[in-house]
Amino acid sequence: MSEEKMNVNWYPGHMTKAKRMMQENMVLIDLVIEVLDARTPQASRNPDIDELAKNKSRIVLLNKSDLADPRENKKWMEYFEAQGAHALEINAKAGAGVKNIRGLVEKACKEKIERDRKRGIVNRPIRAMVVGIPNVGKSTFINAFAGKACTKTGNKPGVTKGKQWITIGKNLQLLDTPGILWPKFEDRQVGINLALIGSVNDEILVIEELACELIESIKKRYPGALTKRYEIDEDGAAPTLLERIAESRKCYGKAETLLLDKAANLLLDDFRGGRIGRMTLEECPK
Ligand code: G4P
Repeated sequence: MSEEKMNVNWYPGHMTKAKRMMQENMVLIDLVIEVLDARTPQASRNPDIDELAKNKSRIVLLNKSDLADPRENKKWMEYFEAQGAHALEINAKAGAGVKNIRGLVEKACKEKIERDRKRGIVNRPIRAMVVGIPNVGKSTFINAFAGKACTKTGNKPGVTKGKQWITIGKNLQLLDTPGILWPKFEDRQVGINLALIGSVNDEILVIEELACELIESIKKRYPGALTKRYEIDEDGAAPTLLERIAESRKCYGKAETLLLDKAANLLLDDFRGGRIGRMTLEECPK
């Protein structure tokens, strides 16, 4: 990925501001609910959260689990749990798994509840904040979790000034606006995966190149999936396969020229919509 193409809409000024906001809000809360995209759990994580949320209880949500490989979801859950986090796979859009979060909150905050009790404080609500990089489903999750209580959607760095809390049940309060972490990538593949899940601008690469990267990943991790979806031969280099997809989907311009950008967009849309199958792009570390 060339430097000039790394247009991700995050500039140092934004990052500093978002980080400062997040630090200010951290002081108010007991629990951080970190939302990740289950298709790329590692890439959709900003490692700075470990520093920002140190001393806080933590829950990791593998969201969009409906689009990711079910077997890989299990592996990633085990991975995060082995690292000491409380992890859960959910589908915030359909509300699946969301009802299990209350139990997890109690578990994650057990020590705090105990500490309060010893000091004679009972029923002080746990205050939580949802955090994550853009497009992982933070707002959708807040809506699903809070029920009818509405939240504002849209990506603002950090959290807005006038803080509002959503009360969930007797002893949980959730900051109504999620904390937005900036996508972080020093590694080319991480940048590509973030573009594939729509967390950074597609334009980090020419669209055909991004599509070719996706073809490579799918061929490697899910052989046969492209054949099944597009009825194409999978043997050959990615650009050839993109041409085959263009032919198979009749992406033709004037004088029968192949419209590769159209085929690339079609492929990316199919992937993002889960139509090529449930896929996880990252291998879980052993
Ligand atoms: P953000 O606050 O983290 O930026 O993300 P947001 O909730 O706005 O969600 C981003 C997109 O991801 C939305 O799609 C949302 O519907 C979708 N989404 C969120 N959670 C899930 C999930 O668990 N599974 C699936 N399949 N999709 C999910 P959109 O295209 O922007 O809007 P819409 O067309 O769905 O309304």
